[in-house]
Amino acid sequence: MSRMSPIRSTAQPLIRLIIDSDPGIDDVVTLALAARSPELDIVAVTTTYGNAKLDATTRNAREVLRLAGRSEIPVHPGAERPLVRELVAAPETHGESGVGYAAVGLEQPLIRSSARPPALVHVLSSLSEPITLVTLGPLTNLALALEHDEPLVRKRVARHIGMFGSIHAVGNTNRFADFNAWCDPEATDRVLRAGLGTEVVGLDVTRRMVFDPAEVERFAAAKDPLISWLGLALRFYVEFHREAEQLEGCVVNDVLTIGELLAPGLLHFQEMLIRVDLDAGDHRGHTRQSGDGTPARVAMDVDVKRMRALLKRVFGEMLRSEP
Ligand code: BDR
Ligand code: CA
Repeated sequence: MSRMSPIRSTAQPLIRLIIDSDPGIDDVVTLALAARSPELDIVAVTTTYGNAKLDATTRNAREVLRLAGRSEIPVHPGAERPLVRELVAAPETHGESGVGYAAVGLEQPLIRSSARPPALVHVLSSLSEPITLVTLGPLTNLALALEHDEPLVRKRVARHIGMFGSIHAVGNTNRFADFNAWCDPEATDRVLRAGLGTEVVGLDVTRRMVFDPAEVERFAAAKDPLISWLGLALRFYVEFHREAEQLEGCVVNDVLTIGELLAPGLLHFQEMLIRVDLDAGDHRGHTRQSGDGTPARVAMDVDVKRMRALLKRVFGEMLRSEP
């Protein structure tokens, strides 16, 4: 693996984090960025259903870490379904496998045991120091951890930054909601009400982080097997966005969470009181400002050029510098 020049000074300690994810095309790009960023010490990856079923998302997480040369990072499968809603997946957006046209092996059947503690509890209880938790999928794993052992979560999660929600941007699942908040509104509600100081990175900023089709084709043609694999995944994502949103390019939502860790101030946050709608209808998963909501920090602006500079450290000439 090549060593990139860190944006943070090398004198600063590594950031220790857990990444909870449902890979997912933008998730694998994000995991690759994190795995190849020398400032980050990824303690574990936990997986959830979401963009695909749990067996597939877990396999995809392991595959991208293997291609990044980081197989030593443990991957722990978590929630198989939302707290109370029906199980969903997004094959039209991410492909049946969850990673578009990228090649993947067979899913390994997971060992399932209802007696085991939730995946995040398992990982958090093995730690002796607080860490940062990054969530890139539905919030079910974090909600289950709060249900199971809230004091442990409060003691060990020093910071939670999650890709979910939308305040003003048009939803990508119904008119108002992003997919992650929509998948499991009850889990989103549980997490927001816990008041962990959650930093919400939603569609208001992520819709501005777009790879164009020419960039994606350069990924697909790259010599590095990790980057060409991501390119084949992203090619599917471009086709989806073209058809569903008439967008020439793809929205790489999840990367902004890791971007903010690497380059603090990349995102501009506003303090807000927010809540999530638990309806069954068009407002399901709608995150909105409300006087009776919980305080959260919500990202409302992003320095896309700076994010691209971070991505270029790992993906090099595949990407343009200008937004
Ligand atoms: C979120 O939903 C998924 O499609 C993406 O991986 C991202 O985490 C965007 O709404
Ligand atoms: Ca995701």
